[in-house]
Parts: sequence; C-alpha cells; structure tokens
Amino acid sequence: MTHKFDAVVIGAGAAGLFCAAQAGQRGLKVLLVDHSEKVAEKIRISGGGRCNFTNRDATPANFLSENPHFCRSALSRYTPQDFIELLQRHNIPFHEKHKGQLFCDHSAEDVINMLLAECDAGDVTRWQPCGIKSIKYSPNPDGTGASSYQIESDRGTVETPQVVIATGGLSIPKIGATDFGYRIARQFELRLVEPRPALVPLTFDGDAWAPYAGLAGLALPVLIDTSPADATPKQRKKAMVFSEDLLFTHRGLSGPAVLQISSFWREGQPVHINLAPGIDLPALLLRAKAHSKKLIANELGTLVPGRLADAWASTDPALQKPVSEATDKALLDLAGRLADWQLTPNGSEGYRKAEVTIGGVDTRDLSSQTLESKQPGLYFIGEVVDVTGWLGGYNFQWAWASAHACAEALSAAHQTAGEATH
Ligand code: FDA
Repeated sequence: MTHKFDAVVIGAGAAGLFCAAQAGQRGLKVLLVDHSEKVAEKIRISGGGRCNFTNRDATPANFLSENPHFCRSALSRYTPQDFIELLQRHNIPFHEKHKGQLFCDHSAEDVINMLLAECDAGDVTRWQPCGIKSIKYSPNPDGTGASSYQIESDRGTVETPQVVIATGGLSIPKIGATDFGYRIARQFELRLVEPRPALVPLTFDGDAWAPYAGLAGLALPVLIDTSPADATPKQRKKAMVFSEDLLFTHRGLSGPAVLQISSFWREGQPVHINLAPGIDLPALLLRAKAHSKKLIANELGTLVPGRLADAWASTDPALQKPVSEATDKALLDLAGRLADWQLTPNGSEGYRKAEVTIGGVDTRDLSSQTLESKQPGLYFIGEVVDVTGWLGGYNFQWAWASAHACAEALSAAHQTAGEATH
C-alpha cells in the first residue's frame, strides 16, 4: 500500500518539528519522519538542558554563510518575538541570561513538548524510528502533469508532491546526526559548501600546550579574534572580535570565546587573545617596577589569574626575577604578549564536540523566500543549509525562521496545485 501525504518532512529536530506543525496547521496532510526513536535530541541537550531557544537581538549579521544575505528574508518574516509569543501562549517560563540569550526556566523538554503539541494541533502523522531508504522523483507519474516523490521507508512507500529535508548537520553523531541531507542534495545535483565543525573547542600540539595543560578548568574574560599571522593592521581591524569567557582544557581552549571564534578559524591561522582586556598592563607593570619587590609572576598574578601568571612566567626564564630587576623593554614585551597571545591550533575537537556544522547545501541552489531548491518540490531547512549562527540562540532562531518560511511555501504550492485540479 502506498501512503499519500501533501508534504513529507524528514528529520524531527527543531526545524522539522516546527515546519511540520506549521504546515499541518495550514491544512496540509503532513508526515514527519525521523530515524531516531526520540525526537529533537539536540533541543534536549541544548543550553545545558535549558535550551537557549532564541536570541532577542538576532539579526542577519549574527550568521555565517557563503551568501550572508540569504538568511534575511526568512529571519525577517519570523522573528525572535514571534517565537517568544508562541512560548507565552504555551505558558512556558523563560529568562534572559546574557547578551539577549533566552533560556527556559525549567527544562528544554518544555520546548519539545510545545513543538509536539503544535504538531498535534496540525494533525501531523509522526513515524519514528523510521529509516528512509530512497527518494525518487517522477515528473508526471499519472499523466496529469503533477510531479511527485516516491519515498521508500521502513514503514512502506510514501507518495508526496513536496519533500522537506530537515536532517541537520554532522555534529554529535552519537545522537543521530547523519549526512543524509547532503546525500539527497548530491542526488538531485545541488551544490554543497564543504561542511566543517563549528562552535567547537580548539586543540594544540602536546608539546606547545604542555605549560598550559595544568590550567584545565581555569576561565577568564578575554577578547579573541582570528586573522592571518601576516595580516596588515587594517585586516586585523576588520577581523571578527568576541568579548567572552575563555576556558582552558587539557587539550586546548574552549568556552564561549573559543566556540565563537572557531566558526571563523581556518587551519593554519593563529588565534589572537587579549588575556587582560580593559587593563592597562604596560602602565601597571612599569608602576610595579618602581614600587614592588615581588617576583614578576606574583605581580602579574594581581592583574590576571594567579595560575595563568605562574604558567606564563614558567615559559620564560627572563620572567623569573623580581619585577624591580626587569628592564622596561622586558615588561613592555610581556604586556604586549599578554594583550596579543598568538597561538595556532592544530585542529578542533571535531564533530564529536561541535555544536554545529558550518557549510551545507549551497544557498545558490535554494530560494531565500521559500527554501525550495532548484529541484521542484524539494526543500531544505535548518542546519543542513549553509547558514550558521553564532553561539547564543541564533541557530535555533534560524531553524524556526527557515521552517516557517518553508511551511508558508508548502501551503501556497498546495493551494495552487488544488486550484489547478479544480
Ligand atoms: P537537528 O539536528 O535539530 O535535527 C535533525 C533531525 O534529523 C534529528 O532528529 C535526526 O535524528 C534526524 N535525522 C538525521 N539523519 C536522519 C536520517 N538519515 N533519516 C531520518 N532522520 C534523520 N543552538 C541554539 O540556538 N541554542 C542552543 O542552546 C544550542 N545548544 C546546543 C548544544 C549542543 C550540545 C549542540 C550539539 C547543539 C546546540 N545548538 C544550539 C545547535 C542546535 O541544536 C542546532 O543548530 C539545531 O538543532 C538545528 O536544527 P535542525 O532541525 O536543522 O537539526
């Protein structure tokens, strides 16, 4: 028996659940399929279990893509305020934590339950776990001129005129991430922007990192940017700079500062870290030289965390003396290096730890209004698309906004097809 639906959404994560609910509520008969037993595993683990579901201040400038303008249309038609109002209709309490980031007061489960209730309100049929074996396109199967897709699934054959791919990116494979979306894109000859892990901790060579490995667990506020080692001052000025917390780990650096910059970092490039932002290190070190009998490391320990000062001083014998005996040049060099600590990662912790995947389905082959691809009736939404948000609720906002734009388009195409057959 062949099951017939007006639209099939593959992937019951953030974007898929929201798109299916919206399309169902617009009157379409929708099937939502996921190969995992549980829906929305990433929502469940997001924001430390409290889901940073949007960012009040989200604008297109908070997203990376080969085409930075692509996200504008969808983001402007479904805003953070729209999602906030949806949460309020479901009486879900939330709070702002930091820089516009909104989190659930209780649990990420509140968002999942809300999305499932929205799917129920749209009479969405849900199949999970259910694997998809193949998707085939027939331009004119019954001679009426209407095209359709035949989907072979673990629960039988499904026929539909519209397919939405919402299978996300490659990060955290152990909770169900796959390259399904990229494979379907290739099958239909759509272009891909090479995917790579982003919002991910960076790692360093064991020997180079040895002096700092003991600092694991230390966190401090920094300014961080990335630009090539040979960048001109003008290029440096243009580089993206984040003011966030840095966290030392056994293998390298993490924390919001490094997760943010990891999306901009390219292999071979150094990261530049100001370990003492807002502190006039040259003036304070020179003043200490005039008045203090302390060792340089101890004096430094009054300006930056003591463990960091000790580790830093241990790398340079010239710093293992009283500050009063240091030359002005040595102190100014030290201040300069702390304000622009340059180090080149040897890689990242990869998809195992990455929060998102940068790259994906090339936006040149998608409509920014509808998320439909060049292949008629085939849509891509959420993280599978080459649109990646900064850390801070932006990626979910893209999931909601792209899902909403797609659901509007599914509904419009459904109506047009209905009118054509009458
Ligand atoms: P998502 O990954 O949510 O869903 C994809 C779905 O497709 C999954 O249910 C999967 O099982 C299914 N699927 C995959 N392959 C399939 C196949 N072959 N067949 C059928 N189904 C398949 N963002 C944010 O804004 N705020 C935050 O707080 C966080 N926190 C966070 C923490 C951690 C640890 C991670 C890993 C990620 C975040 N994110 C985040 C990022 C955010 O989770 C992510 O961008 C969105 O979930 C993307 O939504 P999608 O619906 O596109 O994919």
